[in-house]
Amino acid sequence: MQPNPHTQTLHDTIAKLFAPGKGILAADESVASIHKRFEALSIPLTEENRLAYRSLLIGTPELSNEISGIIYHDETFRQMIDGKTFAEYSREHGIIPGIKVDKGLLDLPNFPGEKLTLGLDGLKERMEEYYALGARFCKWRAVVDVRGSTDEGIEANMRNLALYASIAQSAGLVPMVEPEVLYEGEHLQHETKEVMIRTLTHLFGELALYRVDLTGVILKTSMTLSGKKSGEVLTAQEIAQVTSEVLHGSVPKNIGGVVFLSGGQTPVQASENLSEIMKIGNYGFPMTYSYSRAIQDPVLHFFAANMKAMDEARAILKDRLLMNTLALEGKYTPASETGKSSEVAAVTHSQDL
Ligand code: 13P
Repeated sequence: MQPNPHTQTLHDTIAKLFAPGKGILAADESVASIHKRFEALSIPLTEENRLAYRSLLIGTPELSNEISGIIYHDETFRQMIDGKTFAEYSREHGIIPGIKVDKGLLDLPNFPGEKLTLGLDGLKERMEEYYALGARFCKWRAVVDVRGSTDEGIEANMRNLALYASIAQSAGLVPMVEPEVLYEGEHLQHETKEVMIRTLTHLFGELALYRVDLTGVILKTSMTLSGKKSGEVLTAQEIAQVTSEVLHGSVPKNIGGVVFLSGGQTPVQASENLSEIMKIGNYGFPMTYSYSRAIQDPVLHFFAANMKAMDEARAILKDRLLMNTLALEGKYTPASETGKSSEVAAVTHSQDL
């Protein structure tokens, strides 16, 4: 096999993304997904408002103190802030731009309720364009339903993730591979654990099969939660313990790194669980967060009512990020909250389901 000429670039990107104390902001909601969030908060569904909201996030002064990378959607990647593309603006402010490259979910024929993530067609060309525009990492999200996904559905999704990852590495982009095990549902934690182990086993099997260099891959994973409607109440310590068992048992130590999605947890839950997971430590690979809703929700709720009050909205964002920085050190508890960014009326809509 020819050595990949981009290996050093991939490793440099990973080192920067996992700079100690920093996380990766997911701001890559599709137009349809962000519209569901806007609609719920009565924000008019316009391109201008999408741009204003994302400019608010990205234009936060000294954002790079807490954020190492931002995942964008294609639309944002081509929009301008202060006369520059979002990618240029991010790079100039010490943040690595990333891009969501999958094309969303298809109902998997013959498997009622299951979804297959698509987007391999033209992927190499799209990635080369994104690289030229400044992207250095990318994301592809598959969804796994604890009680609904079959081995066939999981296998098809993990194969697409591996093919995507191999193409990304050949284009110089670090692939973030995201098999999101959904929090929605009535399943218990032991069921989530079993499905996460099965999913990760398939995923790493496929990555090996397609000769993906794990040292240049980031796994984006769920925490091992019980379903949102299960009625099973777990402490953050219990969630962290089982999550760490899953990661220790199922993630090869030579992976570039692991990041968590928030998946519909509240901002406080996502910080508390992260803190307990980090406290356990000794994973053998770098870890951080890559949240969308658990960071953005308090900001978006404020924005909905005060669209012009940029400074206050940015102070809310900063406050939430500082809580997560504490969590990365294993030092966050709900008592750390200032009250500025902890309360949200409701967690907003997930990315496409
Ligand atoms: P949430 O943190 O809202 O789950 O979003 C993270 C993400 O990128 C989902 O694909």
